[in-house]
Amino acid sequence: MMLACNGTLSGPLAAHAEGVTAAGEKIFAHCAPCHSTKPGENKVGPSLGGVFGRKSGTEPSYSYSSAVKGLNVTWDETTLDEWLRGPSKFAKGTKMIYSVPDEKDRRDVIAYLKTLPK
Ligand code: HEC
Repeated sequence: MMLACNGTLSGPLAAHAEGVTAAGEKIFAHCAPCHSTKPGENKVGPSLGGVFGRKSGTEPSYSYSSAVKGLNVTWDETTLDEWLRGPSKFAKGTKMIYSVPDEKDRRDVIAYLKTLPK
């Protein structure tokens, strides 16, 4: 049997991107008990598949707190960074009690979230 090798990015740029994503995936292990990356699959928290660029509180089959429902932001680097630094500061009364105090960890996990398809 022949095994095909996918042609993907190579060289330093790809290595860097892969490094960042791998680091982010490691951080995401802390999110995974509450968040699926599969679109439409909710756990304690809403699916994070395609969350980057999505409006807050809009996963259709998830029951958000009124805090997140009324947040009305688009999830990008800035809003995700603020949210992960302190969810209850960003959206007072949110059900999400987990935060990521380390700036590099936040950057890495946000880079990972960016790669998740809708
Ligand atoms: C203990 C469970 C738990 C953990 C761990 C957790 N979350 Fe959450 N998350 C939630 C809950 C619950 C909500 C819904 C909040 C609400 O409705 O108030 C949420 C909401 C979110 C949202 C808003 C999604 C939307 O559709 O608007 C994002 C983004 C998010 N979490 C990212 C993360 C990331 C990234 C991590 C890991 C660094 C993480 N969460 C860890 C429980 C968790």
